[in-house]
Amino acid sequence: MSLNPPLSDFKNKNVWLIGASSGIGHACARWLAKEGANLIISSRREESLIDLNELLIKEFSIQSKIIPLDVMSDQSVEAAQARVLDHFPTIDLLLFVSGVYTPIQAETLNMQDAQSMISTNLLGPIRVLNYLIPQFLKQGNGHIALVGSVAGYSGLPKSLIYGPTKAALLNFAESLYEDLSPKGIGVHIICPGFVQTPATAINDFKMPSLITPERAAEEIGKGLKNGEFETHFPKEFSFFLKFLRILPYPIYFWLVKKFIVQ
Ligand SMILES: NC(=O)c1ccc[n+]([C@@H]2O[C@H](COP(=O)([O-])OP(=O)(O)OC[C@H]3O[C@@H](n4cnc5c(N)ncnc54)[C@H](OP(=O)(O)O)[C@@H]3O)[C@@H](O)[C@H]2O)c1
Repeated sequence: MSLNPPLSDFKNKNVWLIGASSGIGHACARWLAKEGANLIISSRREESLIDLNELLIKEFSIQSKIIPLDVMSDQSVEAAQARVLDHFPTIDLLLFVSGVYTPIQAETLNMQDAQSMISTNLLGPIRVLNYLIPQFLKQGNGHIALVGSVAGYSGLPKSLIYGPTKAALLNFAESLYEDLSPKGIGVHIICPGFVQTPATAINDFKMPSLITPERAAEEIGKGLKNGEFETHFPKEFSFFLKFLRILPYPIYFWLVKKFIVQ
């Protein structure tokens, strides 16, 4: 069911895409360029953004604006958003894709990885929105889309820290929707299952229902076009996880052990 105004046409829409240098964000940049969006592409690695920009020019004749930023740093985010608002008088879509994933379980718990994941995956979007919410409120329109994960639905093996960052992001997006939807601003949470990217290349287990970043970008685009609050995919895996979380814990833990722990 569509809870947001549909973003039916991306042509000439101003999109700030954070986390564009690799994986799902890179594929989203290509999808959005193909749809004719005006793009600002951001992440830390400027060389990768330059390569992406060259690709977008070659493939779609689209020139994007490169604004590097580190979402773990408040100063970096503040400087970047000022440059974004200089370039775009209004923002039609903020697509926050950046995230880090380190498989952690009880035996490998450490504060360095924990802080890095919390600072990027959860505090990153909060830092950006701390600056951009006033802009969206001033506009009285626009869309905010945050990439979470199906790992946020319930506790999964090797997701001791990653899972809670995405669970909190989902909760954050729900509250954000309640606050901003009455003001005409769309809020979207995107929950992918396993996608073949540099982030998941480190996994030493068989990833169920693994999809390509291009397929993920198409699913994200379709969800935004339909005005969905939550876009989750691939459905055979995401519905299975949604079903798991409503089960009593003895059955939940048994099914996770049987079907997810390899
Ligand atoms: N792959 C999956 O199976 C999967 C499943 C569910 C959800 N997700 C989520 O999808 C998103 C993208 O993941 P991916 O698999 O495409 O991973 P990826 O290929 O490793 O890409 C991660 C992106 O995040 C950016 N990033 C990381 N730290 C950053 C920082 N401090 N500041 C700014 N940008 C930063 C990276 O750019 P720089 O290194 O250039 O900064 C890169 O563009 C993440 O939020 C991830 O949690 C992925």
